[in-house]
Amino acid sequence: MKIIRSKSELRELTRGWRVSGESIGVVPTMGALHDGHLSLVSAACARCDRVIVTLFVNPKQFNNPEDLEKYPRTEDSDAVKLAPYDVDVLYVPDGAQMYPDGFATTISVDGVSDGLCGATRPGHFDGVATVVAKLLRQSDADFAFFGEKDYQQVQVVRRVSEDLDLNCEIVPCPTVREDSGLALSSRNLRLDDAARQRASIIHATLSETARAIASGQEAGSALDKARGSLLAHGLGPIDYLEMRRERDLAVVQDNTAPARLFVAVWLDGVRLIDNLAIG
Ligand code: PAF
Repeated sequence: MKIIRSKSELRELTRGWRVSGESIGVVPTMGALHDGHLSLVSAACARCDRVIVTLFVNPKQFNNPEDLEKYPRTEDSDAVKLAPYDVDVLYVPDGAQMYPDGFATTISVDGVSDGLCGATRPGHFDGVATVVAKLLRQSDADFAFFGEKDYQQVQVVRRVSEDLDLNCEIVPCPTVREDSGLALSSRNLRLDDAARQRASIIHATLSETARAIASGQEAGSALDKARGSLLAHGLGPIDYLEMRRERDLAVVQDNTAPARLFVAVWLDGVRLIDNLAIG
């Protein structure tokens, strides 16, 4: 695996791959890799001739400067974790490569960016859309792999790729969970063991609520019960716990179009998100 830090060097390499007709997959990350990221890398290696993993802690998607500062920077251990996979390039651009002096463009996606994390983290999805558009262009990828734990992000980047004719298929991959059901996230590192155990109630609550709605319980009361259960287990505040249509994240009152439950909730100062399909 080659470590590349400049977009011109990356372009030179991908141009050669294109000439020989090889397909390119990209896995965009901010590092601090865990098994969730590695499942994306595995999916990319299985599907593409060439695989690029990107590592860039994108300042434009953090609406809280403290969060950006605290974000773990672990390039060396990330490279070690990628070693067993058939990854061609670890692309690690710096701020000047991504946002050189004079950079003035923001990509903003209507509709799917509204609500959920878009409402509680203003500007977050503009930052994601902008950096992902750049990473897809820089890597010249045919396929880009994203985890469904960030389901809203998947919908946002899908729109970006389609709307800007980036010719890159967005491939959603299933959420990877701890045995307790807790969705893997680099934020879990900030929880102590007891909090991590308590956090398993998030997936348990989503599962129970999804079952209740699928078997005909009225969604409003099922969601109220779920909120009560999270608070009773000492989690909170709850940023949101909602049911949305899977296809476009529109608010729905029932599960007639396939719908999903979405939650963002705080535990010991750490904001955790998860989502689950209903039925
Ligand atoms: O999901 C993430 O880690 C980031 O939002 C992404 C897609 C790498 C963009 O910075």
